[in-house]
Amino acid sequence: MPSSSTKPSSDAVKGKLLEIFGVSNPQNAAAAGEYDEVLASPAGAKPVREAVRLFGPAGALRYMIDADGRRWRSNGVYTDFVGDDAKAPWDLSRSERIMEGTFQSPLVSFVYERGWRQAFNANGFPGIDKEFEEVAEFFSPVQGPSSVVMDLSCGSGLMTRRLVKSNRYGRVIAGDLSPSMLGEAAQRFDKAGLTRPEFLRCDVSQLPIQSGSVDGLHAGAALHCWTQLEAGLREVYRVLKPGGRFYASTFLVAATINTPLNQNGYKFFTVSELERYMREAGFETVTVMQSGRACALIRCVKADNNDNKAPDALAILQEPGMVAVAQEPGMVVVAEEPEQEQEFSAIVPPSLDAPLEPFEE
Ligand SMILES: C[S@@+](CC[C@H](N)C(=O)[O-])C[C@H]1O[C@@H](n2cnc3c(N)ncnc32)[C@H](O)[C@@H]1O
Repeated sequence: MPSSSTKPSSDAVKGKLLEIFGVSNPQNAAAAGEYDEVLASPAGAKPVREAVRLFGPAGALRYMIDADGRRWRSNGVYTDFVGDDAKAPWDLSRSERIMEGTFQSPLVSFVYERGWRQAFNANGFPGIDKEFEEVAEFFSPVQGPSSVVMDLSCGSGLMTRRLVKSNRYGRVIAGDLSPSMLGEAAQRFDKAGLTRPEFLRCDVSQLPIQSGSVDGLHAGAALHCWTQLEAGLREVYRVLKPGGRFYASTFLVAATINTPLNQNGYKFFTVSELERYMREAGFETVTVMQSGRACALIRCVKADNNDNKAPDALAILQEPGMVAVAQEPGMVVVAEEPEQEQEFSAIVPPSLDAPLEPFEE
């Protein structure tokens, strides 16, 4: 065996491997103070962890904090990753007032599932139960007890409730810019007797999510409301794991929502425009389907580039003192000594299973 001074720890090797594959490293985070495996400061800069400040016996302030000490407060409903960065109403442009502002109204949040959302069906939206069926089917390759899914621009939580109720996913996160939508969503969870998911107040252009940490992301009836569409789509792409899946629905140009309020407000699309936006965000596998008169159903998969990266991974596994054994497709066991094998879920494409025989010292 090589001397221990040249021997990297299995954690270090694991960290390097996960970095290569663009996956967050839970063990590093935990070592640094139980940082969350998925949540981060806006734009995914640094992992955050939950903290509580107690004020005497009765008062407690809950918040998320990153390694730089930046804090985001949690109230009884959501953690606010927008907070002081929110623009004042008088600073909003016309399209911001319409695309984002409409849904900040408690009245709109109240009526959203009491007729507003159902009216989308006239433009070809399949209806939320059918939409859930399609999402569940599209996410089925990534579902499971360790899978993380996000309902982005969740509104009153109609898809979020179905994601949670299905018990198909290990962790469900729901995010929206609107405090009143998040409040409505929380109430609906309580009324339905469902455990609330993690609610985040967040802007799609700066998601408080670590890169490569989400298996499936849904954004229903939302893209036409994002004032920073391209930045939002880049964020969606960033937070997905390799092989992660994005399902979205939005309106096409023929939509018959044309009240004076909406004119020059929402952005409606053509199918080819949507395809271009998805590809520019980074997605290689993109399907945009028209449903009915003016609804677009979008399915994208983030490419799994492990094939290109696996040779680098193999090089690291051959560092002095490390032993690697192929376990089963998609799994590698790394250990300093054969009897201290430590399992982790990296990431070797099945095509590279064969070369991963135990390394002889
Ligand atoms: C039409 S609702 C869709 C709600 C729900 N997803 C559905 O399928 O019905 C659009 C949602 O997008 C949210 N939204 C608008 N701009 C956003 C932004 N920049 N970041 C995150 N959410 C945003 C609004 O607050 C609103 O709840």
